[in-house]
Amino acid sequence: MNLDVAASTPLDRLSAALTADLDAVNAMIRARMASEHAPRIPQVTAHLIEAGGKRLRPMLTLAAARLCGNRGPYHVHLAATVEFIHTATLLHDDVVDESHQRRGRPTANLLWDNQSSVLVGDYLFARSFQLMVETGSIRVLDILANAAATIAEGEVLQLTAAGNLATTEETYLKIVRGKTAALFSAATEVGGVIAGAPEPVVRALYDYGDALGVAFQMVDDLLDFGGTAAVIGKNTGDDFRERKLTLPIIKAIAAADAEERAFWERTIGKGRQEEGDLAQAMALLTRHGALEQVRQEALRWAAHARAQLDLVPAHEIRPMLADLADYVVARLN
Ligand code: IPE
Ligand code: IPE
Ligand code: MG
Ligand code: MG
Repeated sequence: MNLDVAASTPLDRLSAALTADLDAVNAMIRARMASEHAPRIPQVTAHLIEAGGKRLRPMLTLAAARLCGNRGPYHVHLAATVEFIHTATLLHDDVVDESHQRRGRPTANLLWDNQSSVLVGDYLFARSFQLMVETGSIRVLDILANAAATIAEGEVLQLTAAGNLATTEETYLKIVRGKTAALFSAATEVGGVIAGAPEPVVRALYDYGDALGVAFQMVDDLLDFGGTAAVIGKNTGDDFRERKLTLPIIKAIAAADAEERAFWERTIGKGRQEEGDLAQAMALLTRHGALEQVRQEALRWAAHARAQLDLVPAHEIRPMLADLADYVVARLN
């Protein structure tokens, strides 16, 4: 047995199975991120795109297309489209969140400025539209255009909920489904659609992507408290500083006594944060088991994602997608 394969993560195995397609996607991304007219564009896009990133979403599109017996060339365009949409949202998101680190590098807003990040993000969005149009499929355009709108809605909903201690778990779920899961589900769905899969399969792929995306974002929210910058390539504690009502905080607030509630009112409600507050927030999350509760919830979403795969064709890719569902939560360990 090949020990490298045994030791690798589900993401590595998926990436190995999709190597040729992924190379084609990366080549297409490089070709389309350039601009003859504005040198700032390739500077910013190269900075972010060449830093890597997991390429999780394009892999989902390629995997879904492969699973459904795709024959045409357009899975590559769609995977590149999905990564462009993702990269555009990251550029915008780091401006909105005032983040300083992304993919282990300083953010574009830090290295250049907010204006460059917003405008180059817009450029990548426009590039993604050009790429998807080349497929000639109105259905695919519909799915991806809807996803782009839903992502923006999720980000705006989160913005307006920030600092509001009354934010419910239901609102949190709406935010997460919008800002993150919408692109995961679109990524898997268009893979099935481009391959001409039957409707129940397309639906199952959508549901798999949706549940995977929710689990993924819940874990991302846990890592914002518990991860290390070296591992996640982003600063930790950003969500607390930005007064975001992520699920761990919502659960800790629900369990708070009067004194703890005053702490959340001051730090999240009013945004008056002092040295040591992040550590205190961590202590409260731990005291109430909020981190563990969220981990359990992410595991349930991952199991739900996995269950959808019963409805898709048996194929060597299928167990890799099943393992990926467990892995998005296991990356916490
Ligand atoms: C970051 O996504 C944005 C979130 C939805 C949390 P990824 O963690 O997939 O980012 P990259 O592409 O690997 O950098
Ligand atoms: C991720 O939002 C979703 C989008 C980029 C649309 P977050 O703000 O939670 O993700 P990170 O932590 O910056 O990657
Ligand atoms: Mg962010
Ligand atoms: Mg954000």
